[in-house]
Amino acid sequence: MSIQSEKIISLNKRKEAALLGGGQKRIEAQHAKGKLTARERIALLLDPGSFEEFDCFVQHRCTNFGMEDRHFDGDGVVSGRGTIDGRIVYVFAQDFTVNGGSLSKTMSEKICKVMDLALKTGAPVIGLNDSGGARIQEGIDSLAGYGELFERNILSSGVIPQISAIMGPCAGGAVYSPALTDFIFMVEGTSNMFLTGPSVVKSETGEDVDQESLGGAAVHSRKSGVAQFACPDEESLISGIRKLLSFLPSNNMEKAPSLPSDDSPSRLCPNLDNIIPDSDNKAYNMYEVIDSLVDNGDFFEVHRDFACNIIVGFARMGGESVGIVANRPDYMSGVLDINASRKAARFVRFCDAFNIPLVTLVDVPGFLPGTQQEYGAVISNGAKLLYAYGEATVPKITLTLRKAYGGAYIVMSSKHLRSDINYAWPSANIAVMGAKGAVGVLKNISEEEYNELFCNPYRAAERGYIEDVIQPSESRFRIIRALYSLKNKVQDLPAKKHDNLPL
Ligand code: HXC
Repeated sequence: MSIQSEKIISLNKRKEAALLGGGQKRIEAQHAKGKLTARERIALLLDPGSFEEFDCFVQHRCTNFGMEDRHFDGDGVVSGRGTIDGRIVYVFAQDFTVNGGSLSKTMSEKICKVMDLALKTGAPVIGLNDSGGARIQEGIDSLAGYGELFERNILSSGVIPQISAIMGPCAGGAVYSPALTDFIFMVEGTSNMFLTGPSVVKSETGEDVDQESLGGAAVHSRKSGVAQFACPDEESLISGIRKLLSFLPSNNMEKAPSLPSDDSPSRLCPNLDNIIPDSDNKAYNMYEVIDSLVDNGDFFEVHRDFACNIIVGFARMGGESVGIVANRPDYMSGVLDINASRKAARFVRFCDAFNIPLVTLVDVPGFLPGTQQEYGAVISNGAKLLYAYGEATVPKITLTLRKAYGGAYIVMSSKHLRSDINYAWPSANIAVMGAKGAVGVLKNISEEEYNELFCNPYRAAERGYIEDVIQPSESRFRIIRALYSLKNKVQDLPAKKHDNLPL
């Protein structure tokens, strides 16, 4: 055998060993927990055969606590480049079979390398996280590694989409990097996010809590809102990431890819002519409205289980990607509160950063009153949504279906916040408040008188705050035509270092 052939054989052997991460036993332990390995996850995520791995020979440099004798090629992360639906993405997947995926300095260098390449070339970064946090044996080196990762997350924010999946325990430093990214997916039952685990919680506060109730997928997708998606298993999580990316551009200089649609832009939606109940207090299904309006009824909801009084998500209209924001009358009457405002504001800002037009469907009775809301800073949180809409320069189209009262009228992409095209259905009530409330305050007027004068779309239309009052069944066609007309919209903000959003 030639020397060259021998060298090729030894290369292949070393690569084969690297493929096993922390070894067969630990791979089996990973599978026994219902989890895939880092490489299996990447294979599912990327187009077949598209993965090009970087740094599979990288090893940690730690010599503390016997680490000098514990080396695995590649260390605890698999990283590289590949494609999803033919578009380039950068990816890293922490390998729990190597020291619990805990972050060494060299691992952070591997991750920073793909993040730098992604930022330079304008491609999304997807991080699959499964990590015990800072590698304890490395001390400050590991903390430095986290810090360098965070800085890249921050610099990439608003330039390239950053998507995080939580596919195992994520503690300490391992949660802050995902928190700095645009979207977090979690797996139900096998993933956790917390700053400090149950034992530290117990010793510091005396509180008894298990991992799932402290930071499971249900907690973060319903209560805290930290995660936008909770998925029943790893496969559905990964297909969720692929689907999400289909609505997004690769960077902030591009538009999202348009897909030819077989759903005619001029399709009428006759069901919408009968959807508004006779009584103002009765609800209807806003999802039915969204499904009717968008191409093939295909709506990809974000944050489905958090702050359900507002709906946000992606869809296509006339083949173009749009961000939909809609009040939900059958959940807390669609009132705006702290969490709904935070949820929608973050979504609006994401769409604005990545050139995705906003379609806002309004049926909102106002902001939720009360001490709980006031003490929780509903003023500052509501202002976030107001700010996000007022700042957004992407095409903005608003359709008012029914109620649009008071401050919530202004906030929900009104004309006054530079919305481009505002339509209303004949059932719209655009007013300072509903008739009951108004009569309670003024006393000398009747409900009929108030309804007659204010509870309609025409006062707003007379002032030009509504471009047109339209027949509900024509809404899809009208919105798509408006979107086409706004394709080349250019709008600037005053020069500034950055804004001072009311955080
Ligand atoms: C080094 C670690 C590690 C860590 C796990 N391992 N976490 N090694 N540093 N942080 C190793 C284990 O020693 C073990 O090695 C292997 O990974 C698998 O771990 P197990 O404990 O056997 O697995 P499991 O029972 O599934 O528990 C997983 C876990 C637990 C819940 C993640 O390991 C754990 O609590 N780890 C510590 C979490 C933590 O407190 N991290 C520090 C956060 S502070 P062997 O050789 O047996 O396979 C932090 C600071 C950064 O991150 C702050 C920046 C802002």
